[in-house]
Amino acid sequence: MAVIPVDIAGRPYEVRVDTGLLAELVENCRGKLRKRPVPIITDRQVHAAWGKVVGKALTDAGHEPRWHILEPGEKTKSWANLTATVDWLLAEEVERGDHVIALGGGVIGDLTGFAAAILKRGCHFIQLPTTLLAQVDSSVGGKTAINTAAGKNLVGAFHQPALVLADLAVLDTLPRRELLSGYAEVVKYGLLGDADFFHWCDANADAMLAGNAALREYAVAHSVAAKARIVKEDERETLGLRALLNLGHTFGHALEAQTGFSDRLLHGEAVALGMVLAARFSARIGLMPQASADHAARHIAKVGLPSEVSSLGLNCDGRALADHMLHDKKMDAGRLPFVLMKGIGEAFLAKDVSLDEVAGFLDEELGR
Ligand code: NAD
Ligand code: GLY
Repeated sequence: MAVIPVDIAGRPYEVRVDTGLLAELVENCRGKLRKRPVPIITDRQVHAAWGKVVGKALTDAGHEPRWHILEPGEKTKSWANLTATVDWLLAEEVERGDHVIALGGGVIGDLTGFAAAILKRGCHFIQLPTTLLAQVDSSVGGKTAINTAAGKNLVGAFHQPALVLADLAVLDTLPRRELLSGYAEVVKYGLLGDADFFHWCDANADAMLAGNAALREYAVAHSVAAKARIVKEDERETLGLRALLNLGHTFGHALEAQTGFSDRLLHGEAVALGMVLAARFSARIGLMPQASADHAARHIAKVGLPSEVSSLGLNCDGRALADHMLHDKKMDAGRLPFVLMKGIGEAFLAKDVSLDEVAGFLDEELGR
């Protein structure tokens, strides 16, 4: 088992990475489940795959699982589900000292975390991430949110979990496309600050994605440790350090917006394409060697993630994509900070990027 401490002042917690953590859930929660009923929020698909394992682990230890089962998908991160979830937690008489469990991917983790942040001005929650994306990114660091009519993740709170248990066994039931989408957030840590890890990914991604348990543990634990280091230094994204985790996200967000935040382009797929675009744009304006940008793009393509925006069949020009960026929540007094690269493993925050130049670059990428 890998145990990664997330040393946030006043609210430290651990991320535990191993195979079989859910089957021994109560032991792994180490005394945090203090009452017989245990409130668990999940989605229908995750419940079908892992509900029995989690339910049995709880009942075998004398607990009563209390399920709140939502529909799978991004639309679940809504005001309506937030209200319903908070009302359900109140009806379950959850107290501030109790721990609510989030069993699922980033959608369930983000919604549950936000509900926990506002329930009785804040109760504890435990993340049981069931996607690769949630294990290496969304379950760690305390960003919680829902989507609104105005955009994605626009309403939320910073609320750290009390514990994260990343059970590698759950990855066996994850559809391949979701696994690959999560992998984008793994290789992101290499591209943004750790060239050695990028080269490790280049050598090991195929075997890791195919199911090699030791490689999976290394990939998840290494990614979590990278995120933990950043979040410890800059929990609220005020120092420009945590913002580096947004590598690929500004370009990716524009692509997600253009494709309607739909299954046409999953979040991780958009991030993968976004990282390729960030690398190519960095090369285009002379910041990064073209060969390094090409290497990043080759790797993304090799594992089976999208690397060419022209393949999406978008019916728009570069200006339309750049316009989506104006609604990005990172906009700051009329300027949009971009994460660009000087090389593989050398991302930095650029504050003076011209959106006209970005639009022209995107026209070329779109083949216009
Ligand atoms: P998701 O939660 O929608 O899960 C993807 C799909 O996989 C769903 O249909 C789900 O039912 C299914 N699934 C999940 N685990 C499964 C399993 N083990 N077996 C079978 N099916 C399973 O998607 P996601 O990619 O995990 O998360 C995306 C969300 O995360 C987005 O809303 C994004 O904004 C958010 N996010 C948040 C942060 C953060 O820091 N809070 C970071 C990155 C992404
Ligand atoms: N996923 C970006 C962050 O947690 O800051």
